[in-house]
Amino acid sequence: MILLLGASGYIGQAFARELQRRGETFRSLSRAQVDYTRFGPLYQFLKETRPGFVINAAGYTGKPNVDACEAAKADTLQGNTLFPQTLAHACAALDIPFGHVSSGCVFVGCLVDYGDGWVVEKDMTRPEFHAVAASSPEKIRGFDETMTPNFTFRDLPCSFYSGTKALGEEAIHDVGQNYIWRLRIPFDSIDNPRNYLSKILRYPKVYNNFNSLSHRADFVNACLESWLHRIPFGTYNITNPGYISTPQVLDMIKSILKPAREFTFWESDADFYATGALTPRSNCIMDTSKLNEAGIHIPTVDEALRSSLENWTAAK
Ligand SMILES: NC(=O)c1ccc[n+]([C@@H]2O[C@H](COP(=O)([O-])OP(=O)(O)OC[C@H]3O[C@@H](n4cnc5c(N)ncnc54)[C@H](OP(=O)(O)O)[C@@H]3O)[C@@H](O)[C@H]2O)c1
Repeated sequence: MILLLGASGYIGQAFARELQRRGETFRSLSRAQVDYTRFGPLYQFLKETRPGFVINAAGYTGKPNVDACEAAKADTLQGNTLFPQTLAHACAALDIPFGHVSSGCVFVGCLVDYGDGWVVEKDMTRPEFHAVAASSPEKIRGFDETMTPNFTFRDLPCSFYSGTKALGEEAIHDVGQNYIWRLRIPFDSIDNPRNYLSKILRYPKVYNNFNSLSHRADFVNACLESWLHRIPFGTYNITNPGYISTPQVLDMIKSILKPAREFTFWESDADFYATGALTPRSNCIMDTSKLNEAGIHIPTVDEALRSSLENWTAAK
């Protein structure tokens, strides 16, 4: 039996749907049934039910966005650092492997070769970076799993949310047997306030940057396959291969959905942070070779975006 924590959430619902579709035996547990965030009740539950694997899709995400985490620091720390650590120790004590949903937002920027070898570029809004992206995309690379996160409390600035996600990874990586699955900006074809495409469709102004993204079902499929195929435990970036700029996403939206509105961009980062956002945002490019080399293949970001938009289901 697979135990699913956080099944009521945006990502947890996708796990539940996919587990059901695959006919896997699983059980969802919510805090309302058993307060699994406390070691005692969690350990007792695991001991009694003995799942073969635990999926942790629980965590504290600010709503409507990470700015909300700045006003709820205790909940953010509890949900994203202390709880994963509690879960890791309870699972390790009972020899139960688990998978933890982390985030690509522990990184900012990418690797770029401006002519003198690979360097980390944290600011992908710079004109020099745009020039390389337009003329030589092969000179841009994502962060891989061997690289140290650079949008954390150890490498400021970062958002409080990202800081706690990075600490969560540190707190569990060598405890028991686990996968750390890094998700990044989820989207799919179902209009939802948590869906990146829905957000772009409704933002009064759009923020212009480059990112890797995760199609929600592709992400949960890859996570489940990592366990079902028993690939080595460890950290995996699970984004659709490639990266895309916001104007490119908007071009796709305009050509496929033909929305009846005009889109404007924030003029600059200064403009965005002055009125549009409280805390720094992570915009980053991820390298997904490790997942690919482990035999798990998901569509490219262009393919996944296109199919989501072609099958778009607007909210009523
Ligand atoms: N959505 C994104 O954009 C995104 C991007 C990257 C990574 N992630 C990560 O993916 C995981 C799931 O995110 P999500 O978007 O599905 O979140 P969500 O919709 O808010 O759901 C999270 C679920 O976690 C459980 N939970 C346990 N402790 C909690 C706490 N202290 N505060 C709030 N909820 C708590 C709740 O389930 P019960 O109360 O029913 O147990 C809740 O339904 C998180 O670890 C998040 O950091 C999300």
